[in-house]
Amino acid sequence: EIVDVDAWEVLDSRGRPTVAAAVRVAGGGYGEAAVPSGASVGSHEAHELRDGGERYAGRGVRTAVENVRTTLADTVKGRDASDQQAVDEALLAADGTKNLERLGANAVLAVSLATAKAAADQHRVPLYRYLAGDQLTIPLPMINIVSGGAHAGGAVDIQDVLVVPVAAESIADALETVVRVRAATVEVAETDGHRANLVADEGGLGVTLPNNRSALELVVRGIEHAGLRPGDEVALAIDVAATQFYRDGRYVLAAENRELEAADWVAELAQWARDLPIVSIEDPCADDDWDAWALATKELGGIQLLGDDLFVTSAERLRRGVDEDIANAILVKPNQNGTLTGARQVVRQAHKAGYATVLSARSGETEDSWLSDLAVGWATGQIKVGSTTRSERTAKWNRLLRIAREVGAEAAYAGGAVVRRG
Ligand code: PGA
Ligand code: ZN
Repeated sequence: EIVDVDAWEVLDSRGRPTVAAAVRVAGGGYGEAAVPSGASVGSHEAHELRDGGERYAGRGVRTAVENVRTTLADTVKGRDASDQQAVDEALLAADGTKNLERLGANAVLAVSLATAKAAADQHRVPLYRYLAGDQLTIPLPMINIVSGGAHAGGAVDIQDVLVVPVAAESIADALETVVRVRAATVEVAETDGHRANLVADEGGLGVTLPNNRSALELVVRGIEHAGLRPGDEVALAIDVAATQFYRDGRYVLAAENRELEAADWVAELAQWARDLPIVSIEDPCADDDWDAWALATKELGGIQLLGDDLFVTSAERLRRGVDEDIANAILVKPNQNGTLTGARQVVRQAHKAGYATVLSARSGETEDSWLSDLAVGWATGQIKVGSTTRSERTAKWNRLLRIAREVGAEAAYAGGAVVRRG
């Protein structure tokens, strides 16, 4: 039974306020959790409540914190913390709006997560085990090397160039491989005359390059320079985050001074996919450009096509995607949805439809590492948390290493197979 709920304001990795909450249950179980925040936010995401006004340039979350301490605390007190679904349904009902506009998804998710952690503590098991279904799976990571878009002051238009260490046989091996690739990519960039010592919001290299394709080619050369085989050992993934540069029906590549119709943009991506060892493309098209997405699925459906802003971890939007045969994988961000139960249901719905799932952090993160427990317990197969630098990122990798050590052979490592289609 939940006996106490508290909340306070903390800072995220961009130095912006976010919500932390704590839940205490009778008998001593305790959990606290902090929620992340995005920069390239999809227009259909659950609502993040900000105070406005002068404090923190309007980004304060004191109202959301107050909502936890009052309305949401009253809602969950007396409830069984182990009945996550009932708690989450009560939280949603207390807000009453579709996108949690009244009390804030940041307030609601903080309570939802802290409840799960308190229940796990009460049962004296780690969070991943408390959340687990039939199996524990250590996820395959996709890891950011070069950043652009909203995370790097628009250095290039596409938001992330990532690598997937497809040949690694454990999470430890995967991380070591990617750290090597990152260091080698820095060397290649510097040999080319670029400054590669500054990092973007997710720890990726913020290099200014002449065009988008050269960001991908730089990483391929980094893989080679690390002594690894592009494609066979380390593959590429990209997060285009195209919603960010979609204007009046066209895809505007500011870094290249070009504007393309959807069909030409998709054709260009298809050309990259033929020329380069790409295994996954996220948000190739804007979040409401369903026609372009349908075309992209037709042209690129042989690889993983991942909907982030398109699906916003929403059961309803995923259903439309599945019905219309759009994309074949979903990025799952719990704060786009608002509750743990909601995000979990989306993972199940995706798996049932044959869509792959990639659990994802946000560009504004905290040192909290519950995301890694969710990935293992929910067996999402893949995880994306940014780069291998910056402690809000390594908190998640280090948590996976800890879990892998703890569970040993009990949990399978997903490995490269989960990202290969057909
Ligand atoms: P965001 O970016 O957290 O800024 O939305 C992450 C992503 O687009 O995957
Ligand atoms: Zn994205």
